[in-house]
Amino acid sequence: MNNRVEPDESIEVNSNTTRFRRLYKHFQKRKLIWIIFFIILIVIIIVISTITATMNKTKREIPSTTTIEITLSTTSALLTTTTSELLTTTTTTTTTTTTTTTTTTTRELLTTTTTSEQLLSSLVINKSMKWKQNAFTVAGGNGQGSELNQLSTPYGIYVDNDDQSIYIADTFNHRIVKWEFGANNGEIVAGGNGEGNEIDQLSCPTDVVLDKEKKYLIICDQANQRVIRWSRQNSQDQQILIDDTYCYGLAMDNNGDLYMSDSVKDEVRRFQQGDKEGTAVAGGNNYEDRLNQLNVPRHIFVDDYHSVYVADFMNNRVMKWVENATEGILVAPGHVSNENPSLMSGPTGVIVDDMGNIYVLTDENHQIMRWSPGATEGVPVVGERESGWSPTQLSWPFDLSFDQQGNLYVVDAANHRIQKFDIDLD
Ligand SMILES: *[C@@H]1O[C@H](CO)[C@@H](O)[C@H](O)[C@H]1NC(C)=O
Ligand SMILES: *[C@@H]1O[C@H](CO)[C@@H](O)[C@H](O)[C@H]1NC(C)=O
Repeated sequence: MNNRVEPDESIEVNSNTTRFRRLYKHFQKRKLIWIIFFIILIVIIIVISTITATMNKTKREIPSTTTIEITLSTTSALLTTTTSELLTTTTTTTTTTTTTTTTTTTRELLTTTTTSEQLLSSLVINKSMKWKQNAFTVAGGNGQGSELNQLSTPYGIYVDNDDQSIYIADTFNHRIVKWEFGANNGEIVAGGNGEGNEIDQLSCPTDVVLDKEKKYLIICDQANQRVIRWSRQNSQDQQILIDDTYCYGLAMDNNGDLYMSDSVKDEVRRFQQGDKEGTAVAGGNNYEDRLNQLNVPRHIFVDDYHSVYVADFMNNRVMKWVENATEGILVAPGHVSNENPSLMSGPTGVIVDDMGNIYVLTDENHQIMRWSPGATEGVPVVGERESGWSPTQLSWPFDLSFDQQGNLYVVDAANHRIQKFDIDLD
């Protein structure tokens, strides 16, 4: 039995060996062709992925991280296929080389994406910039109410670019909600414990900012006449920063100093960390319309040089106060005289771009108007004269903000929603 088995096995082994040898030679010959084929395939994959990434960047509906993830997962899915094919056909050495190449290209892909991100963020918004006229609702828009997908007459927003989210002063729900970009629901991050003046309650908050370290929310708790600091980490940690104030708008400069408009004292005050009294940096000289006065200041904006822009509501103008100034500069509506009467009425919100163009919301129409330096007339940017609910319309817009890419976010108060107008780069 043993004698018969052995030769049989040896024959089998022998024939197997020769078959393998033939196959091996066959592959040796074809190896070069295969390697070239896979290199070409990988190059094609990279080109397609880069194009997809660039296109997604421009369209900008998907946040950048998702784009990278999608591109990466597509690449890795394709890679898995190629790698397994390689394993079955070529030798181990070739596989290792190919894997190394793909890792490098994936890294290159990441670098490319990051570079285009930086390019977008350093984009300078200027006079010729346009925004798509159809807005997307990015928060609320489900009628007035207190569900997590609803808002109730919001007054202010803060856009956090690092975290891809918006913080909303959901005024008549007496809470601050955070909506991540693209989310269907908000998350209560402050208040939401009924209207009241306990330390964990809010009453008609009108504005919110994040501090420089992004550890605390700073909230204008208007009807409680206080500014309150609310920890992001610990929902039990609240502290009253400023008491006895009719705050309306808040802003923070690049040093982390807090600015607050007071619509009863008709001034804007700056508070350095730990400072309870603060310093008046705009107005504070009674409530008429001289250049050193304000009359019911609403939302404010602070630029990189600590100049404060104020929506001077009752004076129908926007004032700019540079640091340490004793009076403001009239920046909109520019030159006013008997022949050239003011074309602005009741500004409520203001932001400024890198070129010094001013974007203002007023109570005369439901549009964002842009006032370029020295202009005697504002130019509509988005929205229509008539209020309404359609994607091109707003109804009592109260506050606005840019994100890093220059898209515009508008608090569409009477529609109980936040609208996003994409920047039009075409
Ligand atoms: C304004 O921006 C557009 C688009 O980026 C650009 O084409 C144009 O040259 C810029 N104009 C000025 C004056 O910077
Ligand atoms: C404003 O005053 C402070 C304190 O006196 C000073 O440090 C700062 O440089 C001044 N800023 C400007 C723009 O004059």
